[in-house]
Amino acid sequence: MKFFIDTASLAQIKEANDLGILDGVTTNPTLMAKEGIRGEEAVTKHYRTICETVNGDTSAEVLSTSFDEIIAEGKKLAAIHKNIVVKVPMIKDGVKAMKWFTDNGIRTNCTLVFSAGQAILAAKAGAAYVSPFIGRIDDSNWDGVELISQIAEIYTIQGFQTEILAASIRSSLHIVKCAEAGADVCTCPLEAILGLLKHPLTDIGLAKFLADAKASK
Ligand code: E4P
Repeated sequence: MKFFIDTASLAQIKEANDLGILDGVTTNPTLMAKEGIRGEEAVTKHYRTICETVNGDTSAEVLSTSFDEIIAEGKKLAAIHKNIVVKVPMIKDGVKAMKWFTDNGIRTNCTLVFSAGQAILAAKAGAAYVSPFIGRIDDSNWDGVELISQIAEIYTIQGFQTEILAASIRSSLHIVKCAEAGADVCTCPLEAILGLLKHPLTDIGLAKFLADAKASK
């Protein structure tokens, strides 16, 4: 399973990248706004910096909702760097636009996916990635990880090539469960990635090893 970081924070992207296990980055308009990145010029510059920092796909989301505008915006985003994947919402014009992008050699990440039916449409449109929002599904009393399993089963049966990108990850346990459920990629907050490191027995064991080594010197 690939690890993407879900942030527009350059500091967090660098920290995760320094671990050596980062495969890419996802952003969304909320995450960009959180970093104070506003206006086309600043947004373009920010995406370019991310792409020059991480050797992997970076999802850049369109803000348009009509076919012609999505195409125009997506073309501009894709031109920023070869690693840009255009993130398109699961709406009618979005599906049409993803098919156009696929036919014209531009890779897409279908975002705001909450059902298996939507995931089938994304795959039919040729999306490189489909992003089911696990945490938001859990927040509404449904099982987000269960959706990953369902999509994984359907994609295997049908031979769809679209990669399942588990998004809206809230915890380290989500990452483990998504790996188990067959996600191809997990996009995570830095905290959830670092949380995978933690186990009290590791800390206790290491303290003992170091203490024993020191005592036997
Ligand atoms: C990633 O592509 C999504 O935009 C993101 O994971 C959404 O996460 P949230 O539900 O925590 O906002």
